[in-house]
Amino acid sequence: MTQKVSLTRYLVEQQRVDGLIPAQLRLLLEVVARACKRISFAVNKGELGDVMGAAETQNVQGEVQKKLDIIANEVLIEANEWGGHLAAMASEEMEGIYVVPNRYPQGEYLLLFDPLDGSSNIDVNVSIGTIFSVLKKPDDHPGVQEADFLQAGAKQVAAGYCIYGPQTTLVLTVGDGVAMFTLDREQGSFVLTQENLRIPEDTKEFAINMSNMRHWDAPVKRYIDECLAGKDGPRGKDFNMRWIASMVADVHRILMRGGIFMYPWDKREPEKPGKLRLMYEANPMGWLVEQAGGAATNGKERILDIEPTKLHQRVSVILGSKNEVERATGYHTEK
Ligand code: AHG
Ligand code: MN
Ligand code: MN
Repeated sequence: MTQKVSLTRYLVEQQRVDGLIPAQLRLLLEVVARACKRISFAVNKGELGDVMGAAETQNVQGEVQKKLDIIANEVLIEANEWGGHLAAMASEEMEGIYVVPNRYPQGEYLLLFDPLDGSSNIDVNVSIGTIFSVLKKPDDHPGVQEADFLQAGAKQVAAGYCIYGPQTTLVLTVGDGVAMFTLDREQGSFVLTQENLRIPEDTKEFAINMSNMRHWDAPVKRYIDECLAGKDGPRGKDFNMRWIASMVADVHRILMRGGIFMYPWDKREPEKPGKLRLMYEANPMGWLVEQAGGAATNGKERILDIEPTKLHQRVSVILGSKNEVERATGYHTEK
């Protein structure tokens, strides 16, 4: 019988055999996974727990918070603040950074997260998730401040997400490809179920919120029009469409079978570069997708090369199967 590899064992081996992750980072990833397990149990309770519906608050982006947004945020903070592996955290649900209280030791890492991605799907029992990104705190000054978080995605040392769907699945990169772990509820642990995930370079499936079509910019409209034209159009093949409205679930499908995901800038709020957030949505997802052989851009440049100026900065996102992302990006950059 082949032995199952737990997340713990996988991380120990990444540390010991490959020297890829220091002990503090290994602890960090274990703690994040443990928090995701707790969030998964809360999600599963649904109406049986006090987790459904809206809270009476708004986050810094002016969005009404769901109870689960707040619960997931608290679970991640409580799990991570005492271990000595972090200096500070930042979250979609908190305006400023959360510095580890000085009753605990301060670690070398910074953790950013979208505690609950796909909030509009919570109450309708559709897949949602948690997205996270890990950076190293710059060591040229004592203490920690918000500016320490403003590093390009290329500087991430770990990134991943946990999807709460028919299965609870953790997908992770530490810069050596992408690995997937499935939560074994009887054992209470994540078990390695796939290594070296690869996104096919070509695809016949796109994901975009079509209801915004009239607000799109010309290159996005051109790309989608050509997909819609199918066999008889310039692409010479029929395309299928999916839109789950949880980035986690749309990206997970793309990691499993390919596809292109777009949440472009549009004319609804022209002053915003896009809807999705760079630091805890686009950067971690962009790195995972690249690590699986795909690509991620904002239409002009690689997502991971963008130098952030604000913690909650937004960005236009095109990611997934390499050849399609390059085509859609090319439509934006050509004269
Ligand atoms: P969040 O729930 O963290 O605010 O993120 C929701 C995001 C993303 O997950 C998804 O791709 C997108 O919003 C869906 O937006 P629309 O409802 O505009 O399609
Ligand atoms: Mn989100
Ligand atoms: Mn969220």
